[in-house]
Amino acid sequence: MSLAARHDTTMRAIVQHAYGSTDVLHVEQIDRPVAEDDEVQVRVHAAGLDRGTWHFMTGLPYLGRLAFGVRTPKNPVLGLDVAGTVASVGSKVTRFHEGDEVFGTANGSFAEFTTAREDKLAPKPTRLSFEQAAVVPVSGSTALQGLRDSGRIEIGQSVLVVGASGGVGTYTVQLAKALGAEVTGVASTGKLELVSSIGADHVIDYTKEDFADGSRHYDLIVDIGGRRRLSSLRRALTPKGTLVLLGGEGGGTLTGGMSRQIGALTLSLFVGQRMTTFIAKQNHTCLEDLSEFIDAGQVTPLIDKAYPLADVPEAMRHLEAGQVRGKIAITI
Ligand SMILES: NC(=O)c1ccc[n+]([C@@H]2O[C@H](COP(=O)([O-])OP(=O)(O)OC[C@H]3O[C@@H](n4cnc5c(N)ncnc54)[C@H](OP(=O)(O)O)[C@@H]3O)[C@@H](O)[C@H]2O)c1
Repeated sequence: MSLAARHDTTMRAIVQHAYGSTDVLHVEQIDRPVAEDDEVQVRVHAAGLDRGTWHFMTGLPYLGRLAFGVRTPKNPVLGLDVAGTVASVGSKVTRFHEGDEVFGTANGSFAEFTTAREDKLAPKPTRLSFEQAAVVPVSGSTALQGLRDSGRIEIGQSVLVVGASGGVGTYTVQLAKALGAEVTGVASTGKLELVSSIGADHVIDYTKEDFADGSRHYDLIVDIGGRRRLSSLRRALTPKGTLVLLGGEGGGTLTGGMSRQIGALTLSLFVGQRMTTFIAKQNHTCLEDLSEFIDAGQVTPLIDKAYPLADVPEAMRHLEAGQVRGKIAITI
């Protein structure tokens, strides 16, 4: 096969053949993925980096490997979030055609081409660039499902967002405001201004103040970072308030500290406060709901920095260091 012909069927991608640190990531020339009947092949313009992708890279917590692949990753191409144009569609796909601009979650988006199930894609919001659209799906869907579905947010409620400056948090603050809440964002000193700039009514610096000292009470707490004890979080809730536990790194290599979530679900059966947790679902209806907030100008993705494909390891180290303000985009 000539070199030109080979380039028509292959692509550059970030590939990992083992779990580990960023050392396991390599740029390789591999075969382009082909769409199954219910899938769309996407020419990737941009991808988004999120904490979930870090978990795929490291294979941590170990419990996650039941889904990612026990010994080695089932899919060696890294990346979930994608924005791009439809290159081809499977025989059962009805919602998309070649050339459509889409965003959603894919089977390995750190690559020039990827595939995604039709139901995990939606039309790209026209107001957004590909880079902006690429950083919406996982974090935006998690934020919306956390507030609306698990948190059952109501207009006028006081909402505390713990971890307001990161990927999920910056969407949670904007969506909670759009849904009519009075929002308090918790973040570190250097990121408080950012949290105010995206609409938080109040900010708390977790390095200087304890939001759970019992002096303030919230109707809804969305706990994204920091892994505070349940007893502390409950102290900051109103007697009938709701706590949504959706994240928090550093909970142990085996289960990621699932005991906090299990404890919350159990305790919730016996106390007036409601405590819940969830794993976000990636689907087109949630993306379409997010698009409405985006089109209305109520939600705007915040990009800390965009990295070229070859610099994914550097982008990952930036995320690991906890320095990201909002989201990281990968440009293809
Ligand atoms: N349940 C689900 O389906 C789901 C989906 C997506 C993500 N997640 C999880 O959600 C978590 C956050 O994801 P992300 O993408 O938003 O991560 P991220 O971008 O790294 O943001 C982490 C956030 O946690 C904050 N934080 C760190 N230490 C803290 C502390 N001691 N007290 C209060 N806040 C603290 C950070 O604030 P500073 O930077 O200001 O320190 C930052 O706002 C991760 O654990 C991820 O795995 C869960």
